[in-house]
Amino acid sequence: MSHSPEHGGTVFALSRRLGIAPEEIADFSASINPLGLSDSVRDSIVAALDSLVHYPDADCAGLKQALAEAHGLTTAHVAVANGSTELIYQIPAMLPGRRALIVAPAFSEYGNALAQHGWQVRRLLLSPADGFRLDPAALHDALAVGCDALYLCNPGNPSGTLYPPELIREVYRLCRTSGTFLVLDEAFMDFCEEASAKGIVAAEEHGLVLRSMTKFFGIPGLRLGYALAHPALIGRLEGRGIPWCVNTLAQVAGTAALRDSEYRRRTIAYVGRERSLLCERLSRFPQLSAYPSRANFLLVKISGGLTAAGLRERLLAQRILIRDCANFTGLDDRFFRIAVRTAEENQRLLAGLEGIFNGGQ
Ligand SMILES: Cc1ncc(COP(=O)(O)O)c(C=O)c1O
Repeated sequence: MSHSPEHGGTVFALSRRLGIAPEEIADFSASINPLGLSDSVRDSIVAALDSLVHYPDADCAGLKQALAEAHGLTTAHVAVANGSTELIYQIPAMLPGRRALIVAPAFSEYGNALAQHGWQVRRLLLSPADGFRLDPAALHDALAVGCDALYLCNPGNPSGTLYPPELIREVYRLCRTSGTFLVLDEAFMDFCEEASAKGIVAAEEHGLVLRSMTKFFGIPGLRLGYALAHPALIGRLEGRGIPWCVNTLAQVAGTAALRDSEYRRRTIAYVGRERSLLCERLSRFPQLSAYPSRANFLLVKISGGLTAAGLRERLLAQRILIRDCANFTGLDDRFFRIAVRTAEENQRLLAGLEGIFNGGQ
């Protein structure tokens, strides 16, 4: 199946179109750890190559143990998948009901997966002008109309907004009292783990937490994600999984990644520092305003004569790829998203913007 021109991270397709190598493109469109693979992940993959002659461990026992330890839960609270996208496509089939509410703007695959399973989808649009504030009263009213599942991403993608644990607790309470299942996507929560609601949500059967290992650990090509939830729900999710869908290399790499506390520490420090620097430098362009973010990307609004698509084309001429956000429901042609990359790549982007806005290119 071929899928997804609507996403960032399309470097292979783009390199074919431009006739250049993927490495020549500075990819700010997918939000992946700029530090790349950790040494321990690389070593674990090389060491596991000979075990490819066997089928993968269908129980993912080692990886589940590492995840349980990392999150202070039991292995029975963990389901592992071939990227969290696989879980996003399993959830609508697992849940009873047919009416979903998505807090938007949001990752488009929630809606695609729900539609594939015949769900009706409504959206609660958060306003950029209001800093993507999530108002519990508005959510209460939206749920009161009748809703079987609520999809919320924290920190939000593409906004980068982190909703504090007290607010998530309130969202969860509203879901519980209205009989709505909460799908809480924490794909970017490794950047601010202390705000995770995994403990509350995994204690009961009213919701689940989705996590991705592809962004924080820089392994989108390997495909690895997981759910944290009550053991009864994990059992139902796993009952729908395809056998051996998490390959051996992903299992060993994920286990090594979780145990590499030095890489985690370096990533958080590096991304935090570069994100602040990028924000500060972007604020010098009167045409651009970046929204506060706790993840490894920034949503930016552009004003003046150039749209996000126009800017994307201009930067592409310099082999710099940004994510035009016009196709996110709730945003328009004025919004784009950039990943926080290495200091050198960020400089390259800033120099590109400088040329476009101040150099009369
Ligand atoms: C918010 C969000 N959730 C989930 C995913 C899926 O990630 P993966 O399938 O690589 O784990 C993405 C990918 O971009 C995302 O942005």
